[in-house]
Amino acid sequence: MKVNKSRRKFLGRAAAGVTAAAIVTPRSLEALALGAQAARGASAQAHTSKPPLAVSSSNGVAAVTKAVEVMHAGGDTLDAVIAGVNIVELDPKDNSVGYGGLPNEQGVVELDASVMHGPTRRAGAVAALRGCKTPSKVAKAVMEHTDHILIVAEGAREFATALGFEDENLLTEESRIAWLRWKETLSKEDKWGPSPYVPAPASPAGQRRIALERERPSFLLADRYTGGNFERRDELLAWADEVAHKPPTGTINCIALDASLDISGVTTTSGLAWKIPGRVGDSPLIGCGLYVDNEVGAAGSTGRGEEVIYSNGAHMVVEYMKRGSSPEQACLDALKLVAARYGNDLDKLKDVDVNFYALNKRGEFAGAAIWNGSFARNGELRRRQFAAAPDGGKGRLFESAYLFERKA
Ligand code: GLY
Repeated sequence: MKVNKSRRKFLGRAAAGVTAAAIVTPRSLEALALGAQAARGASAQAHTSKPPLAVSSSNGVAAVTKAVEVMHAGGDTLDAVIAGVNIVELDPKDNSVGYGGLPNEQGVVELDASVMHGPTRRAGAVAALRGCKTPSKVAKAVMEHTDHILIVAEGAREFATALGFEDENLLTEESRIAWLRWKETLSKEDKWGPSPYVPAPASPAGQRRIALERERPSFLLADRYTGGNFERRDELLAWADEVAHKPPTGTINCIALDASLDISGVTTTSGLAWKIPGRVGDSPLIGCGLYVDNEVGAAGSTGRGEEVIYSNGAHMVVEYMKRGSSPEQACLDALKLVAARYGNDLDKLKDVDVNFYALNKRGEFAGAAIWNGSFARNGELRRRQFAAAPDGGKGRLFESAYLFERKA
């Protein structure tokens, strides 16, 4: 492999935070170069805020606004972030968190959540919890009412029931249609989807009906649900197709700093759509999807949980901040750990989506992602963003720093 001298020197600097064992390919050189550019460019626009401050993933504009309101009213930082994410957990339109989250492979919604309370240096979490729209509250109850940190699956459900959380249906009709669409497109060999045995239609109407059902197998369900609104039905089917083939790895992380410089955080999710029942992502794992050190700062993650578990992401971000990195540099350095596991090969990383969010005690905050964005169906680049409510104000979106740029 030929590498010119200046590039070699540059690589040495850029790769300082990357594992020494990473195999360096020509494509990885390009990747590291982009990473360093992004880090330099973004640090020019570092964000700082007076407390109270709340930071979240991009689905949390309302959540950070609420969290800051709670802190303004004298509320505790953990109560503030939980009140914020409850808005998203209860929103049936967010298909990656709480009620309306996309289900597991059996059509059952299973939720993961964790909380960390900086002032008391404690944490609580639940994983694979069924039937509770607000797992963040159950995670807090684990912290407050038990000697444990993480309770999972059936045990989590029994714990939630004991604490008075009702057992509710979390599957919305939209999520059900997406799940059935996934099932019927899984394989031609299973029995879901239109039968391969097609009778000769007895009339033109029968012919049209068979053609329609074969073209859009979930048509009947979607048509019934949208009650004759054809535009809505077609939108729903297009969305169901998209998530069936490319399941989202949403989630919400929210971290906050108050005027006393206390810090807390929460991460809550329905996890990976169509997962094997019992799969646990990074969100409920302390040090992976969430970490708080009241002396330093807080960090959380969204995206492909398996990567964040491998890298112990949130803990690494806080650890980097403890050693003096800015929140943004700390997030980028933790993302480099993820990229290094793939030898910094952009082809291998193309479907790997990981985002970190961080704030420190000085009120500096950031969001960073592996990629600068993703392409929408219309070919437009949707830039990676995060939400923050700085200086005790309302929430708005900020552009994330990133390691790599997608080319159209
Ligand atoms: N980051 C959410 C999950 O992978 O479950």
